[in-house]
Amino acid sequence: MPPAPSDPVAVIGASGALGFGVAIRLARAGVPIAIGSRDPKRAQRTVERAASLISGGRLSAHDNAGAVRGAATVILSVPFRNQSETLTNISPALSPGQLLIDASVPLAAAVSGKATRMLGVWQGSAAEQALEMVPEGVRVVSALHTVSAASLTDLEHPLEQDVLLCGDSREDKKRAAGLLERIEGMRCVDCGRLEMARITESLTALLISVNARYKVHAGIRLTGLHDPVWE
Ligand SMILES: NC(=O)c1ccc[n+]([C@@H]2O[C@H](COP(=O)([O-])OP(=O)(O)OC[C@H]3O[C@@H](n4cnc5c(N)ncnc54)[C@H](OP(=O)(O)O)[C@@H]3O)[C@@H](O)[C@H]2O)c1
Repeated sequence: MPPAPSDPVAVIGASGALGFGVAIRLARAGVPIAIGSRDPKRAQRTVERAASLISGGRLSAHDNAGAVRGAATVILSVPFRNQSETLTNISPALSPGQLLIDASVPLAAAVSGKATRMLGVWQGSAAEQALEMVPEGVRVVSALHTVSAASLTDLEHPLEQDVLLCGDSREDKKRAAGLLERIEGMRCVDCGRLEMARITESLTALLISVNARYKVHAGIRLTGLHDPVWE
């Protein structure tokens, strides 16, 4: 069953750069947000920080498992080196039908390498690793790799960019798009099956390289698509 607008969205890693940006943008759009952290006090501080930036948001603080338990959708935004331990820890709280939106990028920086290089992941991508780790019936969509945390957190910054979605079910991607497109300026594009995530994840490394040269927070915009892209 598709989630109701009143269902909270759990953001795991919301005390960090990308998770915080996504959480405040969604909260500003009226989405109830359950902030998850390994440390509930950090979750509470994150809620207070969010409340200082947006008015009227519905945000609550939890440990990671608590945030996941009450949510129809879970956004996972942690460094790749911590993705598997985080999934191991939250898996008992995940249940069939929940949608996990994975933003992890296996940058070589995760093991002290360059941020413009990728690690090889046996499963093909961080998202496919996530699919392998979640309980059966949890839906996995890969997204948000080309959206900069700095742009999200600067609430005056117009986004006007695409979010590249990969997943094995069109319905799951539509569900993710229905949520993420509540953020003004974001258009979600169906990029194909979850195995395409190895390409979309690597675009983060490309954008880091571009950003370093132009001193910007570049995003991605595909051209030539029909409007609207979701029918
Ligand atoms: N930053 C960007 O612009 C951007 C853009 C696209 C994709 N991404 C990807 O999105 C993911 C999150 O990026 P980020 O820059 O937001 O990461 P980050 O700020 O370094 O960390 C995000 C959160 O991960 C949690 N975490 C869980 N286990 C951890 C551990 N053992 N050590 C440290 N933190 C841990 C922390 O939350 P708690 O301490 O509260 O548990 C932390 O606040 C990464 O995979 C990244 O590659 C980032």
